Amino acid sequence: MDVQENASLKAYNTFGVDVEARRFVEVNSEADLQAVIPLLSEEENILILGGGSNVLFTKNFEGLVIRMNLGGIYIQEEDDEHVLVKAYSGENWHDFVTWTLQRDFGGLENLSLIPGNVGAAPMQNIGAYGVEVKDTIETVEALEIETGEIITFTNEECEFGYRDSIFKRHAKGKFLITAVTFRLTKEPVLNLEYGAIGSTLDSWGIDEPDIHDVSRAVIYIRQSKLPDPVEIGNGGSFFKNPIIEKDSFKSLQKEYPEMPFYEVESGGGAKGQSYKIPAGWLIEQCGWKGKRVGECGVHEHQALVLVNYGNATGAEIYALAEEIMQSVEDQFGITLQTEVNVY
Ligand code: EPU
Repeated sequence: MDVQENASLKAYNTFGVDVEARRFVEVNSEADLQAVIPLLSEEENILILGGGSNVLFTKNFEGLVIRMNLGGIYIQEEDDEHVLVKAYSGENWHDFVTWTLQRDFGGLENLSLIPGNVGAAPMQNIGAYGVEVKDTIETVEALEIETGEIITFTNEECEFGYRDSIFKRHAKGKFLITAVTFRLTKEPVLNLEYGAIGSTLDSWGIDEPDIHDVSRAVIYIRQSKLPDPVEIGNGGSFFKNPIIEKDSFKSLQKEYPEMPFYEVESGGGAKGQSYKIPAGWLIEQCGWKGKRVGECGVHEHQALVLVNYGNATGAEIYALAEEIMQSVEDQFGITLQTEVNVY
């Protein structure tokens, strides 16, 4: 295994930001994984990188970056109704979803075309079009940095929340996710709750959709709204959709009756106590949608996505993010939080 010094990370982050890692290694096999363990105890500052689709580097990374490329997809168990499929963390997410669809395994069709790798999916509990990956995760396997042992987390132990898990909180920097096992269905239960899926299928004249139709609709919707990171640098949603309490929601709603919202369960309480507001709407209201500032900007079809038109630095992109956060704070009294991990 090769340890590179002062390695460029440009090819390893979908914003296409040009920064260096003081040390950089790629883990391509179980043998590499074993070889990386001694390095972990030497370094304070460790970053595990999958597809690099959810990070923004604002400066060089003064530490060790480990890129996880472990591959492989295996059926672990199956009966007439379900199948347990284990995928290693370096598998590309959409290639994995395609693999499941080719075998008629249901559960991941709404999550088609999300950038990134399998290992990153549980980290931020990726979600789209009415489904979150936690709905299908059975277990997550991870190498514990301190002991070098592989630990298996059950779904419950992952403490999943909205774009959140134990791996973003107290387990952060302590584990390397090596594999994820999914419980998929052979008799699919479709989730068509997200309006645009239904209207897309209707416009195609499909009244009895299957998982393949749902996947095609999701791909069509994503391609019409979200920029392809291969063509234009971005990290998907830059901010989380904020969750606000009933009182602030009611007073905002009076002022902005057209404001979209979703009711969410607040920390274990009854439904109807908190409201999730689309950050894209808030940002658009502040006049940012489609705006360009130097080499970066706000995507023209989805204000939640910040883009790098070519040569923006991470610091420039983050400065734009801060300006946006300030104007949302000033106009709505809501503090946005980044969904992208900023380093
Ligand atoms: N909206 C605007 N202006 C915008 C963007 C959105 O008014 O510029 C409004 C839309 O009209 C709609 C509402 O906001 O009423 C929601 O928009 P959309 O359905 O596009 O979804 P989102 O809430 O902006 C979330 C996820 C996306 C995911 C979509 C679809 C987060 C942070 N983002 O976005 O996830 O694809 O729902 O389910 O939860 C990602 O995490 O990287 C990501 C792309």
